Amino acid sequence: MYQVYLRSFADGDGDGTGDLTGLRSRLPYLADLGVDALWLNPWYPSPLRDGGYDVADYRAIHPLFGTLEQAEALLEEAATLGIRVVADIVPNHTSSEHAWFQAALAAGRGSAERDRYWFRDGRGPGGSDPPNDWRSIFGGPAWTRVREPDGTLGQWYLHLFDATQPDLNWSNPEVVAEFADVLRFWFDRGVAGFRIDVAHGLAKDPSLPDLGEDSESLMEAPDRPRHPHWDRDEVHEVYRGWRAVADSYDQPRMFVGEVWLDDPARLALYLRPDELHSSFAFELTDPDWDAAGLRAAIESGLASAREAGAPPTWTLSNHDIPRHVSRYGRPAGVRERFGPSKYDFTGLDVELGRRRSRAAALLLLGLPGTAYLYQGEELGLEEVTDIPDALREDPVFLNRPGELGRDGCRVPLPWTPDGPSFGFGSNGAWLPQPASWAALAVSVQSEDPESMLALYRAALRLRRTTAAFRSPDLAWLDAPVDVLRWRRSGQDSEVDVVVNLSTDPVPLPVGAVLLASADPVGGMLPADAAAWVSR
Ligand code: GLC
Repeated sequence: MYQVYLRSFADGDGDGTGDLTGLRSRLPYLADLGVDALWLNPWYPSPLRDGGYDVADYRAIHPLFGTLEQAEALLEEAATLGIRVVADIVPNHTSSEHAWFQAALAAGRGSAERDRYWFRDGRGPGGSDPPNDWRSIFGGPAWTRVREPDGTLGQWYLHLFDATQPDLNWSNPEVVAEFADVLRFWFDRGVAGFRIDVAHGLAKDPSLPDLGEDSESLMEAPDRPRHPHWDRDEVHEVYRGWRAVADSYDQPRMFVGEVWLDDPARLALYLRPDELHSSFAFELTDPDWDAAGLRAAIESGLASAREAGAPPTWTLSNHDIPRHVSRYGRPAGVRERFGPSKYDFTGLDVELGRRRSRAAALLLLGLPGTAYLYQGEELGLEEVTDIPDALREDPVFLNRPGELGRDGCRVPLPWTPDGPSFGFGSNGAWLPQPASWAALAVSVQSEDPESMLALYRAALRLRRTTAAFRSPDLAWLDAPVDVLRWRRSGQDSEVDVVVNLSTDPVPLPVGAVLLASADPVGGMLPADAAAWVSR
């Protein structure tokens, strides 16, 4: 599954923003790379206060990205190449520019329009304090006060994310019906499935109790049985309804949930046969280049999948996480999932990060289940850390002091070594690209059999054609310290995956080397390298 961050993939009309025309023109590239499906980040009309995760209209395409007709053409053209397209749905919140929210502001206190969101009176004298102590994931209180239609300061509304992203009230039947209809709207047009944004956040305790000491906790469900807004049992009702919609189609449709939960038993509940087909495993995005950390992440992902009876899914990078070239090229350390240390690249060695990322590609694609690739990882792009502040758009940067935010992993792709924006479009790009990316352009790497792109193409081809890679599990093998080694066994083939995270070369297993991230020397696999060896 290849993640397309549309805004930064390819610009077909020269306005500096990626779009559907650009993506359509690059479908042959994706077919050639060897991916089965695309996941597109939100493509809907939006003020783009959170990169499109602030949706103003769920049944249309943002004019910057194109038209509904172009989206339909994309779906058809991808289908002829054997590529399915998964869209992104954002059910936890709308944009404050959504017609429902504007109607809620106009309708006033106690109205049916306000009941689609979480409007409450404030506490304290004159209601001047927020209704409770919840914090926004992007910093500051999770409540913003509105001006009532008569001009006075009035109620507050809940937003777990930016103030421009009011949370929907999923206990309101209109909300439930609206989203079932939105799913049908896109399924009818050939969308193969949905990635569900903040899938564990939809339900809230209607009494909106204070969180107390947990008020700073983000995304992860704190260790308490009934959190007032994460992973509440009521969300499962929503997904049972969605699954019924998906199953009403002859062609299979799928859901992958963005569910941030560390407890495999709770995660498994989302993957029951009448709920979601899969959920992301973010384990692999936590450890830096460290054998014990990566092994623990793989074991945890496999255990969750086993518990759920669903295929494991793996991600090294996405649009919310610093690119793994930069994570692996910095001195190993334990970082916060949220917080300034996530964006600390002191001591970064980009070339070392790229060498390790070549190995990481064979680690990722040597695992059972679904691998999610984030656009540009096949080119070895690093996190861009020197974007001028004035150009940064991410609300994490704007609202959380000390954090660089997520713009650095969203910089437009280089397609050619020259030209404005390296072939991304005929003009500039909405975020500046490093000059060094000329050497990483698609056209350059396509000509180079030693490139990262060539490695991804070869790995994806082998993954598709080798029976051992279709087995649902892996078996760990003994290995020297700081070396990971496991076996995939198929009907008539066995492949050993070896990843050398130590500082010295290690002997390769006996067999034929199918693919290696660095050339073996005298039967030895160099440090920071990986290989697939057929037995
Ligand atoms: C998810 C998205 C992220 C967005 C947030 C709020 O975590 O991946 O990009 O900011 O939800 O919608």
